[in-house]
Parts: sequence; structure tokens; C-alpha cells
Amino acid sequence: MNDISVITLNNVVKRFGKQTVLNHVNMQIYPGQIVGLIGPSGAGKSTIIKIILGMELADEGSTNVFGKQMPNRRLLGRIGYMAQSDALYESLSGRENLQFYADMKGLNKRSSDMQIMHVAQVVDLTSSLDKRVNGYSGGMKRRLSLAIAMLGNNDILILDEPTVGVDPALRRSIWAELKKLRNQGKTIMVTTHVMDEAELVDEVALLLGGRIIAYSDPYSLKQYYQVNSIEEVFLKAEAINNAYNVNY
Ligand SMILES: Nc1ncnc2c1ncn2[C@@H]1O[C@H](COP(=O)(O)OP(=O)(O)O)[C@@H](O)[C@H]1O
Ligand SMILES: [Mg+2]
Repeated sequence: MNDISVITLNNVVKRFGKQTVLNHVNMQIYPGQIVGLIGPSGAGKSTIIKIILGMELADEGSTNVFGKQMPNRRLLGRIGYMAQSDALYESLSGRENLQFYADMKGLNKRSSDMQIMHVAQVVDLTSSLDKRVNGYSGGMKRRLSLAIAMLGNNDILILDEPTVGVDPALRRSIWAELKKLRNQGKTIMVTTHVMDEAELVDEVALLLGGRIIAYSDPYSLKQYYQVNSIEEVFLKAEAINNAYNVNY
């Protein structure tokens, strides 16, 4: 493993009013890894992602991407980001949406045509590409957003709940593609609350009560908690965490 981290969070604290959402979060993500950020709804997963991208400012601590502070325009060009809510042009077709984002990424006509074909295939939207997005189902919109995030030769993919509303067969092919990108040395951060997806990542970060309460590969986590699935790891870690916080 390369020891220079791609994404580093150092004692990050984030408050919204009186609520402390992130309470000294530390993370180091290395190249060629898929990191799964797991936690219940409201745990702060999207907030971590927005802080990494420089869309939210932390109240304390520091965040770096390739050793630089975000937001940084040049670095943003190397990151494919899929937000939790789709940012699509509803009155345009899927292809036109992809074309728009390909232009923003600065892809030339030839490579954008090729890449649009490829990413559409990965998310199984090829036959619907010329339909308007306002006629897409929720799952199709998620898939189009994922396809957009995959455009460009990104070094980093940051995907916020990419497989919500995506059926299991397609989920599998999406994960196969993510692994392929990982094997090419790309760094992928993905949030999910689908626990069996957490089995597929290289490192699992469990976010609970504003802290990363566990951060390791799925196998080690299951061994440590002496359970058979990441779902059970999560439940056990949560129970232990709650027990600790009784007097808190
Ligand atoms: N802009 C905001 N203003 C106030 N509270 C926010 C804001 N963004 C997120 N929160 C709160 O921070 C917490 C974490 O949110 P979020 O990061 O979206 O969680 P997750 O993605 O894990 O579901 C939630 O309680 C949410 O209501
Ligand atoms: Mg979220």
C-alpha cells in the first residue's frame, strides 16, 4: 500500500447550531482503496463528504485532498462527485446531461462520446439515453448521476448513497466497475446504509455519535467483534457505543 494518503481528515469538528454533528473525526484514505462510510441516517456521512469537497467548512480541524486544502478548482477537476440528491437537468435527455457535464470536465468530443457510451453502459441506461430525465424513475436518476460522476479520468470518486433505488443485479455490475477503477489506482469513497455493500469495500468506517467508532477492513472488523457480517458489526459497535455513553 502506498503510504501517502489521498484524503486526510484531522480532528474535524462540525457543528450546526448547538448540535455537534462531527466530533473529532480522523480519517486517512489511501490510493487504490474503496472506503465505505457507514452510519445511520443523520450520522453525518454527507457532512463529511461536503467537508472533504470544501462545500462545508469545518469548525475545527483540517481536511486535505492530495495534501491541499479544499476547495481547490484544479483538484475538483480530478474528483467525480455524486451527491445524495440528484442535480440533473430534468428537461434535457440523459445524453444531454452527460454531454453537459463532460463539457464541464473539459473532455474533447471524441473522448466524451466514448466515455458517455461507457458510463451509460455501466449503469444500464443506454436504451434510455435519449429520453428526457423528467420521465426517468428515481432509480434511473440515481444511475444517471452515478454515470455523470464517472465521467472524466478522475483520481477520486466520492459517491453519496449511489445505489439507492438500484436493483440488486445492477448493483453488482456497478460494484464490479468500482472495483475495476480501484484496481487502476483510483480512490473511492462511498456512503451506504446497505450493509451487504459494506462487505464489498476495502475499508469500512463506522460513523456513530459524531465519531468514527471503527475503521478497518471488513474481515478484521468481523473478527474483532466476533460476528459474521458487517451488519452485526454495526449493531454490536452501536450497542457498545451506547453503553459507554450512558453517563454522558
Ligand atoms: N446545513 C445544515 N444545517 C443544519 N443542520 C444540518 C445541515 N446539514 C446537516 N445537518 C444535520 O446534521 C446531521 C447530519 O446530517 P448528514 O450529514 O446529512 O447525515 P447523513 O448523511 O449521515 O444522513 C443531521 O442531524 C442533519 O439534520
Ligand atoms: Mg447523507
